[in-house]
Amino acid sequence: MTQGSEIAGKASFEHIRYAQLWEDADVLCAALPQEPGKTLVSICAAGDNALAMLTLDPARVVVVDLSRAQIACLHLRVGAYRSLSHPEFLELMGSRPSDQRGALLDRAIADLDEETRAFWQARRADVITYGAGGVGKFERYFRIFRTKLLPFVHSKKTIDDIFVPRSKAERQVFLDTRFNTWRWRLLLNLFFSRRVMGRMGRDKAFFDHVEGSVAQHVARRIKHAAVDCDPSQNPYLHWIMTGTHNDALPMPWRAEHYETIRNRLDRLDIRHGALEAFIDDGDKADGFNLSDIFEYMSPDIFSKVYGQILSAAQPKARLVYWNMMAPRRVPPAFDGSITTCTDQENRLKAEDKAFFYSDFVIEEFQG
Ligand SMILES: C[S@@+](CC[C@H](N)C(=O)[O-])C[C@H]1O[C@@H](n2cnc3c(N)ncnc32)[C@H](O)[C@@H]1O
Repeated sequence: MTQGSEIAGKASFEHIRYAQLWEDADVLCAALPQEPGKTLVSICAAGDNALAMLTLDPARVVVVDLSRAQIACLHLRVGAYRSLSHPEFLELMGSRPSDQRGALLDRAIADLDEETRAFWQARRADVITYGAGGVGKFERYFRIFRTKLLPFVHSKKTIDDIFVPRSKAERQVFLDTRFNTWRWRLLLNLFFSRRVMGRMGRDKAFFDHVEGSVAQHVARRIKHAAVDCDPSQNPYLHWIMTGTHNDALPMPWRAEHYETIRNRLDRLDIRHGALEAFIDDGDKADGFNLSDIFEYMSPDIFSKVYGQILSAAQPKARLVYWNMMAPRRVPPAFDGSITTCTDQENRLKAEDKAFFYSDFVIEEFQG
């Protein structure tokens, strides 16, 4: 049973919403405490960022999610890290083409609990076709964009050319002269309208607290991803535009972290339920990956939950979170006990490859 959270009453969580993490683990891990032996808390979503947090050598990572389907995404990864080689893992997830995903899925789920095995067996055909990282509602939304609409706007050559390494000045010229055509702008306005996005990608309830137009927001963020950052290194842009990752992998999926993560899987403490329920347990943590959950809350609930998190925070604990369109930063009631790590935020925001978000927040509890 899910407990104690405003969004739980509004949105339905029985399907996989996010089959991979759309938040940049490189900036997340840089923002969290760097000393080993810490207790960290993470919102699960697809589980990749909780796995990325194992590279920080914590004592444990408590992973929570309201959604059983999202928790099942993390269990699948645990099984996959344990039983597959790194190249096989990338095939299963969809970062690489594969004609053996069914067999890889069978091996990854073989030692999982019965319920999780049944959950994945029911999705076997989709995993074979799209990869386990492609079977969420959000990824389906991008797939429709890529396969049904993008071909009317840009040729395959133009799409491939996005990922050719170039200088920043050349990237701006590419965006202005080759990419940002009137057709592209029309597509953005149609596809990223609140109505279409709410129906196909995100639950309508998630827009209750969002300000401004989604399409304008996306246009601004595309400049960040395509010009300010290097698209050839961007896993999120790769997947959206090509349906795979090529050589640009999300941090926890890179070869250099595979063994480290695999060796620390038993430090995960995976719990189905609201973050608010973790807090009620009386545990205290040194770092929180809060995804963008505050955006889904009204300002009043946000303030209440923020206070609850502080009651479960060690002195110097870091609260790390994103905003997509609804601005959320330390509520006035807690201003006095928080230091905002502005310089680090600005440095990491400039590098954030997950370009949907308008803000990345690092706040430190003074205890
Ligand atoms: C906030 S969503 C955002 C996902 C994201 N942007 C991504 O890249 O995957 C991430 C997860 O938070 C979960 N969630 C939202 N509010 C929560 C809460 N109060 N406690 C626990 N999980 C929550 C949802 O079920 C969802 O799986």
